Amino acid sequence: MTTTAASPAVPLSLANRTIFVAGGGSAGPGWSIGRAACVTYARLGARVCVADRDRASAEETTRLIRDEGGTADTFIGDVADEADVARLFAEAKARFGVIDVLHHNVGIGKTGGPLDTKLEDFDQAQSVNVRSLLLASRQVLPDMIEQGRGALITISSVAGMRYLGYPHLSYCVTKAAVIQFTRMLAQQYAANGIRANTVVPGLIDTPRIANTVAKMFSETSLDDARTARARQVPLGRMGTAWDIANACAFLASDAAAYVTGTELLVDGGLTGKFS
Ligand SMILES: NC(=O)c1ccc[n+]([C@@H]2O[C@H](COP(=O)([O-])OP(=O)(O)OC[C@H]3O[C@@H](n4cnc5c(N)ncnc54)[C@H](O)[C@@H]3O)[C@@H](O)[C@H]2O)c1
Repeated sequence: MTTTAASPAVPLSLANRTIFVAGGGSAGPGWSIGRAACVTYARLGARVCVADRDRASAEETTRLIRDEGGTADTFIGDVADEADVARLFAEAKARFGVIDVLHHNVGIGKTGGPLDTKLEDFDQAQSVNVRSLLLASRQVLPDMIEQGRGALITISSVAGMRYLGYPHLSYCVTKAAVIQFTRMLAQQYAANGIRANTVVPGLIDTPRIANTVAKMFSETSLDDARTARARQVPLGRMGTAWDIANACAFLASDAAAYVTGTELLVDGGLTGKFS
């Protein structure tokens, strides 16, 4: 049997790719999903644009990459602000050239149902989680169409597909919207060689759970909240940021050349419990 370039033995590589990660910082010290994805992309050879509104955490991600000998730079702005988005992508392109992969990572939301969610919080989640995706897509699609290739990776949540036991309305509806937005992109631009897929994380142990998710559990300590989250998952543990980063790396790479318009659940089996 002859070996071809399409052999499955070809190792995962992102060499010569520029990847823009919107939300590449972290809500606290440690490994967020965006930070782990940035480092993973760089380890696979990509030039990484670490974009975030939080300068210190974005610079920390860039430092971690550079300390390993990787290539990255920091771009500071609000991905929900139209002028900031235009500037962020212009700066990134000036630094590293055309964006090959957009990883849209940002996600916010406050707990509450229809009766206690403030309208401004509902609108804010829509703006940061969904409208920002429209703004970012407009920045990368023209170049991707011209190149005849490109990939978009969006980050939803199991909460965008199932009710996880507590009201989190503004977050859940925007995470559902992210999935459908991505499916629409995939269908419209498949003929242009552009792929778009959503990663659907389950319950992931990132620094953010210390100041947001822990509040959703009645347990008093963060450790108790962690244990409660782990107990829900068929595989018996929360996911790590690296579990999500690995899935993103696959979707960003040519190993996923025939994958578009789909959702990759990385949830330890959680979603299946509710099917
Ligand atoms: N942690 C989980 O259990 C979990 C589960 C499912 C889905 N997710 C999703 O995964 C993604 C990453 O989660 P994480 O836990 O690593 O969160 P995180 O809060 O640590 O990371 C998000 C980053 O986005 C940045 N950001 C937020 N709003 C921004 C804005 N308007 N402009 C620029 N930057 C902005 C934050 O500063 C932060 O650095 C989110 O979309 C989240 O909804 C997380």
